[in-house]
Amino acid sequence: MKSLKLAEKRHSVREYKHKKLSNEALQYLSNLLLEKPEISKISSLEFRFIENGFGLAPQLETVSGYFGKMITAPHYYALFSHQDDFSLNMAGYVGEWFILNALKKDIGSCWLEVRDSNQLKQILSIETSKKAVALIAVGYAKKEFQGGEIYAASRSNSLSSLTDLGYPDINPNHTKEPMSSRKSITELAYLNTWGNTPEIRELEMRGLHEALFYMRLAPSYGNRQPWYFVICENHIDLVMDQSDDLSPFIQGIDAGIAMFYFEVGLHDSGIRGSWHMDALKAEYALPGSYKLVGQYRF
Ligand SMILES: Cc1cc2nc3c(=O)[nH]c(=O)nc-3n(C[C@H](O)[C@H](O)[C@H](O)COP(=O)(O)O)c2cc1C
Repeated sequence: MKSLKLAEKRHSVREYKHKKLSNEALQYLSNLLLEKPEISKISSLEFRFIENGFGLAPQLETVSGYFGKMITAPHYYALFSHQDDFSLNMAGYVGEWFILNALKKDIGSCWLEVRDSNQLKQILSIETSKKAVALIAVGYAKKEFQGGEIYAASRSNSLSSLTDLGYPDINPNHTKEPMSSRKSITELAYLNTWGNTPEIRELEMRGLHEALFYMRLAPSYGNRQPWYFVICENHIDLVMDQSDDLSPFIQGIDAGIAMFYFEVGLHDSGIRGSWHMDALKAEYALPGSYKLVGQYRF
């Protein structure tokens, strides 16, 4: 439940107070990075802290951010990785874990795409054979955020409010700011085979509805929510829509974010298991641009 509350509060912060994070907050973040999730330990992922965000942001214009529109923040973390799928997935998994933990101390953040890794390394004077795969902006948000907005912005066929799922503390009428809209939970789950949409009751009986609900809180590039979960007897497949012609960095990070959120949701629901990413083969036919990228085995 604690994780759900945190995920509800989460949103991308694009305007920051013009002040640095306190020393205590910075220490908290650097301590976090000493305790990265176990699953990521064998990946090539590396976080580098960029202290002088306000000074460097103008130079990073066109190098980072959607359409080269940089978000100005007091600090950034640059995520470096080799280009193998596992490391890219871990960039998403650990990056999002980091973002949610930062939020525990009211530190706002935003994922930023890196459009030109070489130029970014040059500007930051960082020499490494790894690629810069994303930035995470961090700082204090200019405005407070209220979690109820996500429900107001949900699609017409989605669950009306979290009350349906037994979380009565949400204010569904708070719509002060635009909020990215999200898919309903039956839009992202299939049962046994591709295209076989389950009833919500079926998901509830299997105890999976809350974990799928977490996915509505997860961020993705362009808010595409490109993830699907195929529920099988002993495992759940994560299938990613790769029809948009995006870089493997973005696709890998989005998949890793999905793994992280779904796992947190499953653990909160008392369902143990872990992700496997090697030698995967779907037991059903998948349309051309969809790829099986992970299997959560119970
Ligand atoms: C890999 C990745 C890259 C992103 N890049 C940018 C970016 O360059 N600029 C930006 O404003 N937001 C970026 N975002 C944030 C998404 O637009 C945002 O997470 C999504 O629209 C959902 O909104 P929310 O985070 O407020 O829930 C990125 C998100 C991800 C996961």
